[in-house]
Amino acid sequence: MYNYSAPEQLLKDRVLLVTGAGDGIGRAAAKRYAEYGATVILLGKTIEKLEHVYDQIEQAGHPQPAIYPMNLEGASAKDYQDLQLTLDKEFGRLDGILHNAALLGVLTPIAQYDMEQWSKVMQVNLNAPYMLTRMCLPLLEKSSASSVVFTTDDVGIKGKAYWGAYAISKAAVNNMMQILADEMETNTSIRFNCINPGIVATTMRSKAYPGENPTTLAKPEDIMNSYLYLMGDDSKDVNGQIINAQS
Ligand SMILES: NC(=O)c1ccc[n+]([C@@H]2O[C@H](COP(=O)([O-])OP(=O)(O)OC[C@H]3O[C@@H](n4cnc5c(N)ncnc54)[C@H](OP(=O)(O)O)[C@@H]3O)[C@@H](O)[C@H]2O)c1
Repeated sequence: MYNYSAPEQLLKDRVLLVTGAGDGIGRAAAKRYAEYGATVILLGKTIEKLEHVYDQIEQAGHPQPAIYPMNLEGASAKDYQDLQLTLDKEFGRLDGILHNAALLGVLTPIAQYDMEQWSKVMQVNLNAPYMLTRMCLPLLEKSSASSVVFTTDDVGIKGKAYWGAYAISKAAVNNMMQILADEMETNTSIRFNCINPGIVATTMRSKAYPGENPTTLAKPEDIMNSYLYLMGDDSKDVNGQIINAQS
């Protein structure tokens, strides 16, 4: 969907939640969704980064976004319930969620993987999107056509040495997406898919490959057509799929 061309009003009046909206791919997606008419709820850990994205969207004259600071590492079921109640009160529905926030953890053999680090990665990359999706289902059901997009990775499709908890969390996310898509195919208007960004120059990528020259890689802004496609009505019959953002 790299060459998908979205109509200008693709996301007009949509209410979309983006996790990890303060940096990297999530920041680019939040800004692009706003540019195409969406009201974007910017969820993330570092408030200054979210405020910066908020200001950029506002200055560009796009629909006013909202900021929801949340540390997914420590968030409990009650925090997700509070989020759901706040969104219901403020917006009354959700038309889509981009589950983008993730933690790389450490690249190390499983035999040496630190157990605390393992739990943190699983909490942010797997348990958080599970709890968030689950709590927000009633809000997604209030939309006439809602789209939930999870984020995967090549190492979640085929396991690779040293990628440990990160790769396993991504494999589990793919499976969770397929279960949700299968369970909700009939009787709901919610669709569930995964996006695989491919290699993109971000903070996470440079942590994994510190010696790499980022200028040789795709930038987050380069892969946004696929993100638009999966969030808008042109993909309304797509459910349970893994879409590669760069092909
Ligand atoms: N870049 C690539 O080459 C690549 C390849 C395949 C898949 N992906 C996937 O693409 C997605 C985006 O990655 P990226 O490369 O853009 O990474 P990034 O630049 O490191 O951004 C990650 C985002 O997640 C947020 N986040 C991390 N921990 C969080 C927590 N505990 N609570 C709330 N937010 C948290 C970060 O917020 P703070 O900045 O505030 O910490 C940041 O906004 C991830 O799911 C990643 O697995 C990336």
